[in-house]
Formats: sequence, C-alpha cells, structure tokens
Amino acid sequence: MDQTALDNLLQPKTVAVVGASAQPGKIGYTVIENLLEGGYNGKIYPINPTATEILGLKVFPTIADVPGKVDLAVITVPVKFVAQVSKECGEKGIKALSVITSGFSEVGRKDLEDELVDIAHQYGMCVLGPNIVGTLSNSDKLNASFAPFLPFPGKATLITQSGALLIAMDAITYTRKVGFDKMISIGNMADVDFADLITWLDKDDNTSCICLYIEGFKDGRKFIEASRNTKKPIIALKAGVSAHGAAAAASHTGSLAGAVKVYGAAFQQAGVVQASDLNNLFDRTLALSLQPPLRKENLLVITNGGGVGVLATDAAERFGVPLHFAPQDVQDELKKHMPEFGSAKNPVDLTGMAGNDWYYKSVKFAYAHLWTDGLAVLYCETAMTNPVEIAQAIKKAIEETGITDKPVVVSMVGGTRCDEAMQWLVEHGIPAYTAPDKAMNGMAALREYNNIRQSINGTNEAKIPGSAKKAHEIIAKARGEGRTALTEIEAKKLFASYGLPVTEINLAKSEEEAVSLAHETGFPIVMKVVSPDIIHKSDAGGVKVNIKDEAGVRSTYQTILANCKAYNANADIRGVAVQEMAPLGTEVIIGSINDPTFGPTVMFGLGGIFVEVLKDVIFRVAPVTKGQAEQMINEIRSVAILAGARGEAPRDRAALADLVCSYAAMIYDLRDEVAETDANPVLVYEEGKGLKVVDARIILKKK
Ligand code: ACO
Repeated sequence: MDQTALDNLLQPKTVAVVGASAQPGKIGYTVIENLLEGGYNGKIYPINPTATEILGLKVFPTIADVPGKVDLAVITVPVKFVAQVSKECGEKGIKALSVITSGFSEVGRKDLEDELVDIAHQYGMCVLGPNIVGTLSNSDKLNASFAPFLPFPGKATLITQSGALLIAMDAITYTRKVGFDKMISIGNMADVDFADLITWLDKDDNTSCICLYIEGFKDGRKFIEASRNTKKPIIALKAGVSAHGAAAAASHTGSLAGAVKVYGAAFQQAGVVQASDLNNLFDRTLALSLQPPLRKENLLVITNGGGVGVLATDAAERFGVPLHFAPQDVQDELKKHMPEFGSAKNPVDLTGMAGNDWYYKSVKFAYAHLWTDGLAVLYCETAMTNPVEIAQAIKKAIEETGITDKPVVVSMVGGTRCDEAMQWLVEHGIPAYTAPDKAMNGMAALREYNNIRQSINGTNEAKIPGSAKKAHEIIAKARGEGRTALTEIEAKKLFASYGLPVTEINLAKSEEEAVSLAHETGFPIVMKVVSPDIIHKSDAGGVKVNIKDEAGVRSTYQTILANCKAYNANADIRGVAVQEMAPLGTEVIIGSINDPTFGPTVMFGLGGIFVEVLKDVIFRVAPVTKGQAEQMINEIRSVAILAGARGEAPRDRAALADLVCSYAAMIYDLRDEVAETDANPVLVYEEGKGLKVVDARIILKKK
C-alpha cells in the first residue's frame, strides 16, 4: 500500500462528496453537513448532476468540473454508479476514495468490489471500504462521515470493521470521557486494511494509541508484521470468537483451535494488548492513550478510603499486578502526611481526613521515589473536600516531579462533582475512572503492554531444520494413492526427516514379518494397526502395548486384525506396525493447524488422554523462536507438572522447547501441503534425558 495515498485519505486538504444531496436525511446531505459542522478548514466540493447549491456550497455536476486538485473523494452514490464515478475520480487525479456505499461483498457482490479496486489501482488510488461510515479526525476537524459529530478529543485512534459500532462508540466517548483523535470505519476492507492503517498511524503525531474492533482479517500475517513494527500501543477487541471451523477437524489440535486461541496467539506475537469487551476496551484505551507503560512491578496505591483500597488490591491481583509493601523509608515519609490511625503500607490509607495538601505531599513524594514504578490514586467523595481541588493537587504533584516515564491512574468514586474532576484530569492527561477496579484494569493494560513488547523484542524467524526432500516424497506417495491421511509410519518418517525424535517403527505385512521386526527392534514392543481408514486406532482396538515375547507378537497380530475388521469391515488394512516401546514419561502434545487467516500455527499442551478434557494448550503462529517456544511451555496452566511437581524430577524442558521450535519450522516449511498434525503423546523425560514422539498424525491439505 502506497502510504502517501493514505495521507490523502486521512489528512486531505480538499474533499469532494460524490453523490452529495440537497435533501436533508440523505447520507449525501449529512456528509456535507458534518464536514461544515465539524469545522473542516479545507475545500469542500459537493458533486451532484442537478443541484446547484447545498448548505451554501457551490455544487459541481461532475468531479471533472471541479477547479484544482482534490485529495479525497467520499462516494455516496448508489452501488450501480460507483464504478463510473470512481473512474471519473481517477481521471481527475484523485488518490483516495472513501466509499460509504453498501451493496458489495457483504451482500455477495464481490465482483463489484473487485471491479472497484481494479479501477482504483489503475489510477493509483486507494479505497477505504466500501460499506463504511467514513472517517473522522479531530486534529483535522474532518468529519467525512455520517456519524453525527467528532469524538471527545484525545489521542487514541479507532479502526473498526463495524460502522454501526463506530457511531455508537463516537457517542460513548463523551459519556465515558475517553478521547479519540480519529475514528476510521474500514468496512469490507476491499483495499485498505488494518495493517495499512496501523503503519500510517504509527507516524501520526496525533495518535498515541491504536484501538481496534476486529471481526476478521484477510491476511493475518500482514497484520502481525505491521503491529510488531509499530512503536505505539495497540489494543484489540476481537468479536466472533465462539466458533471457528473447529467442528470439521480431523486432529486433536484441529478440534482445540478456536478463534479465541489462534487470534490470542497472533495478538501475543504481534505485541497487541487485548480487551475482553467494549467497556474493557474503553478503560484500557484511556490508560494506553495517556500514560507510559508500567515497566516494573512496584505499584503504589494511595487512597482516602479503606474500602476502595481493598477493592483496588483485589483487582490488582486479579489483573496480574499484585501489590507489594513499600520499603520502610517510604512508609516513614508517608506517615508524615496522614493521621496517627492512617496506614503507610500499600495501599497507603490517608484516611477520610485527607485534604488537598496530604494528597499533594504524599503523591509528590511517592511518585518521585525510586522504588515506585507506577501510582494509583484513589479518592472517595467526602463532605470536607472538593474533588476538583483534589484532582488539581494530584496533577500538580505529578507535574512538579518532572517525571514522565511512570504511569499514574486515578479513581474518584462519587457523584457529579467527581465526574467534573475526572473530566478535568483526563483533559490534563491523567486517566481517571469511576471505580478502583477500572483504574487497576487500566494500569494492568500498561503492564501487559510493557511485557508483551518485551517478549517480542529481538525475535527472528526460526531456522528450518532438516530437508523437505524426503517429506515431499512421502507426501507425493500418499497423494498418488489418493490419500490425504498419512499412515503413522509415514508420519513418523516425515517427522524424522526433520530431525524430530520419533520411536522406531516398521510395517509388518504378515505375522512372520511382525515376529522378525520385533526381534530386530528388541522387546518389549508396541503393535498398532496401519490403515488410512482408521484414524483413531485405540478406539478400534488397533493398539497393544508392552508385548514381551514372540508368542505375544503372534497373538496380538491376529487380535488387532480381527478388532479392526470388526470396527470397519471396509477399512484398507495394510498390516501392523511394530514399534519400539518408549519408557514412560510425562505426556505432552504438540500439533498444528493451517489456519485460514494466519496459516501454519503450532500448538503445545499437556497431552495424553486428558488433552481434550483439560484443553490446557497454547497456540502460536509458526515459525516460533526458542524463546517463544519456552514461553508457550510456561504459559500452560499445568506447567508445574513439567517443573517437577510433588517431588518428581523436573522434565527436560530445554529439549521440549527445541522440539516445539523444530516442529513449528517443519509445519511452516510444509504449509502448502499439510493441513493438520499431531504428535500425541510426546513422552518427556527427566532433565537431560530428552523426549520421544510415540504417536504421529498428519492430514494433508485437499487439493
Ligand atoms: N454523480 C454525482 N451524484 C450522483 C450521481 C453521479 N454520477 N448519480 C447519482 N447521484 C446523486 C443522486 O442524484 C442523489 O442526489 P439527489 O438527492 O439530489 O437526487 C445522490 O447521488 C444520492 O443518490 P440516491 O439515489 O438518492 O441514493 P441514496 O442517497 O438514497 O443512497 C447510498 C445512496 C447512501 C450510497 C446508499 O446506496 C447506500 O449504500 N446506503 C448504505 C450506506 C451505509 O449504511 N454504509 C455504511 C455501512 S456500516 C453501518 O452499518 C452503519
């Protein structure tokens, strides 16, 4: 995307509205009215074939009649005229189209959308939309939309896929006092997408935080790349996380991969903070748009009420920023600004007697102290104090320290006097909230932002181990036989070709062959049916473990064949695999899916029979670095089991991280061929003793 085209879209000096109307109530009228009421300083050109004047502005019959250059054309003509007017805009030399008109891919007319983009690209134009509300910008006094007014001013910028939500959020900015500079409706994303806008906004002086409402991406990797390269905080609310095609999955991994997990992984790798709902999005955006990140652990809370202090303490712990007691020298100094019965521990309780001066002195001292990494100031409305004066005392104290790299949040619990004080604080750059838990949520977002950015710093693409040649031979053989499911033997050979530690396994086509392979492998052994038609071998009675002698091999061979024929009389049974029996270890699962949005995505979790019950699994978009693999291992809820719970020796987590890394690189390398895979279980041994993949499944993409 040519970023200069986006300058025309988002900071135009001249705007034409093609489809402007003199008739109040029409969108083409409202856009003109909004441009005027928003106070836009640039030139506005209404385009309409018959009208002569709209709201005092001269009207031009076609875009070609406009004298001079036009930066942006807002299109409000019905869908059947869009291609023609777009062509005329191209001829005029316009570089950006904002297409409000609906009736494209959202109603099955992708062809019209493709035609629009083709025309635009022919003339070097970018297209925002179609099917959008438009764009709003406080810094340019530009309301080129049919949303009723510019948002409450501030430094966040919203990009939303839902136009209706833009209008609703625009109104909420005033009731919640969360300031935005720009609001951009992105609609069908036929051309300009989230990644393009994020890259542009990273250089926009008027945007300090990028706030996203996402329904889905077309190119997930482009989003990750753009977000990773951004120096500003990004916060995302992802809608539609409940069902994501998991129902049709053929592997354990496929059935565990909901959108919530895959998008969550992508946000993590993109350095994007998440919001859980709309309220949460506003609370977090407020803090992220006004304050620096919380870089370390020491968060101090100052309050005039014990109750809100306890609520803040609970919330801090819930949001992952637990409070610690301040050192004695900090406590001693704070004691000077409270009555005898106050508390200098954390939360610092100045008591209900606290006035402006105590707030001022304690905030100034605490905020400036080296121990303090971040500050939350709480206030409950009292009869003896004026909330606006308290707010001013807090702001003055912070300002006088000259410090700007530590975050501060405020919560004022009370009535309209508190509302007034909080608006004053927000207008002066300090996020203020109606409840202590909201303030803590804001602070937690600043902590998460710091941690997530640190976790992605310095990570490079992982190296691909082994060679794909052998893997492609195995895949070609299966495809040649019209199969998309590899047998376990094929899957293990493929894994082995990438250097993964698999148990030795060979196919016996007869009882005699099974006996001789068992002797070669060494007892005890495992025997498993080999059939492309039997994916869940245990369910079919197709797996027997711990076979200790030749007699056992013979009887097991016959039993497995009988069980599998009874399970599926038509199954193509190719024989029985004779496999080395690995010693017992902790069972984990590694798997992959080829996600429609993000492509190859790796999964790690606690394995064995409980995997689908506990669902204790973590996803990452592949490939991953060793550091990311270690992070995945540490993120599962049951990590204590690997660390050596209940006196057991710690497991070989270094070998496990190596395996996750190689596995991710392998599935990335085979992304054009492989749909889903599982290595389940992988047995992990004590530290230094490595691990073994004892079962393997690979499903190829349908071609
Ligand atoms: N050049 C210039 N003007 C033209 C041309 C042309 N070639 N052709 C027609 N016009 C004029 C028309 O004459 C008319 O002006 P008039 O009132 O003077 O006659 C004007 O363009 C608009 O055309 P209408 O036929 O009156 O269409 P209408 O205004 O009813 O609808 C619209 C047009 C708004 C683009 C409609 O087709 C549409 O797509 N509506 C949905 C938009 C929307 O909701 N988008 C956001 C989705 S997100 C959300 O859910 C909020």
